[in-house]
Amino acid sequence: MSGVRPFVKADIAQVAELHRTVFATADGPSARDAGCREAYLGEVFLDNPWRDEALSSLVYEEAGGRISGFLGVMPRSMRMHGAPVRAAVASQFIVHPERRGRLGLRLLKALFDGPQDLSMTDEANDSTRVVWEGLHGTTAFLYSMRWTFPLRPGRLALSVLRGRKWAAPLALVSGPFALTADAVLARLARTHFGRSLREASDEDLDAATLLTCLDEFSGDRALSPQYGGLSLRWVLRRAGGANGDGRLHKVLVRRQTQEVAGWYIYYVDSRRVGEVLQIVAKPYSVDEVLDHLFSHASARGVVALSGRLEPRLIRALSRHNCLFHWRGPWMLVHSKRAELLDAIHRGDAFLTRLEGEWCMRYRLG
Ligand SMILES: CC(C)(COP(=O)(O)OP(=O)(O)OC[C@H]1O[C@@H](n2cnc3c(N)ncnc32)[C@H](O)[C@@H]1OP(=O)(O)O)[C@@H](O)C(=O)NCCC(=O)NCCS
Repeated sequence: MSGVRPFVKADIAQVAELHRTVFATADGPSARDAGCREAYLGEVFLDNPWRDEALSSLVYEEAGGRISGFLGVMPRSMRMHGAPVRAAVASQFIVHPERRGRLGLRLLKALFDGPQDLSMTDEANDSTRVVWEGLHGTTAFLYSMRWTFPLRPGRLALSVLRGRKWAAPLALVSGPFALTADAVLARLARTHFGRSLREASDEDLDAATLLTCLDEFSGDRALSPQYGGLSLRWVLRRAGGANGDGRLHKVLVRRQTQEVAGWYIYYVDSRRVGEVLQIVAKPYSVDEVLDHLFSHASARGVVALSGRLEPRLIRALSRHNCLFHWRGPWMLVHSKRAELLDAIHRGDAFLTRLEGEWCMRYRLG
């Protein structure tokens, strides 16, 4: 019998092959590639700390036993005004190219019919958005907005130019000017942000401290995540290692009184772009924490910082002259409970990239 059913260990090899077919890389189907995908699927979708038999990832199995669709699901614990909320984060939504047309709908419908209160995904492309909205899911526009802060605009412009064949000679000629401009800007940034460094101390944010701080700092939102020590350590380990050879920076910012002003977590990839996963601050410390982040990243040679919008930070990010853009990927949500959707659409939910798909990403190697 064909149809949608839970993903189990025995499906790993077939789903890995389907994943490779859909997201084929230049590396080709090497044995290492297959091994990596299989380990990834097991770790993220079968052995995650929230594993719940009633809320598992899904496959579409054809009559002959062939698997032609997969929808990765990670259960998450949240709370709404203190009451427990069961959430499901969807990722790696794939249908074999020969079977496109209604299989995606069937997989997603099976997810929406599940026992969770809320389904979400935050790195969805346009194809997923069409299917999601077709089943009465909605786009969370506020949380879909991205921001960028260019720390070395010259280098950023050069990397864009170098990526375009016709502009390569222009990059060659303008290179020295761009680097000089960056050096001047870096000096100005040191002066501008210097105050925040003098007035605040920083330390590496460990999982235990983050756990305590999350409780304190997220409690004023209608909807907030709930972690335990094990799940938070798992998320942080994946956040640092799941996306390549870059480095995860986790920084706790303290005022001179030793009071916690806030913290930030960002990942710097091999292109020296910093992907911000979480910024949290007391309302009166937001500028302090942002200044600290920009100065921390600037001192480490980061070319630009980029993040998904946390609605409460929109004014502070604007004050810091961040650029906002809205080209996707999208954050999509679905729930039968109107109050959950209301909380998200009015920006009253603590939903950073740490609560989303970032830690569910696949990387080769
Ligand atoms: C995203 C993906 C899984 C969707 O699966 P799919 O089988 O192509 O999707 P479906 O055909 O079931 O749904 C799309 C179609 O259903 C239609 N549709 C959406 N809601 C509908 C509804 N309620 N009733 C009827 N039709 C509906 C859409 O308009 C679309 O029609 P079209 O193909 O004529 O434009 C698939 O395209 C894929 O594997 N893409 C590559 C991998 C990828 O990008 N994954 C997403 C990562 S974020």
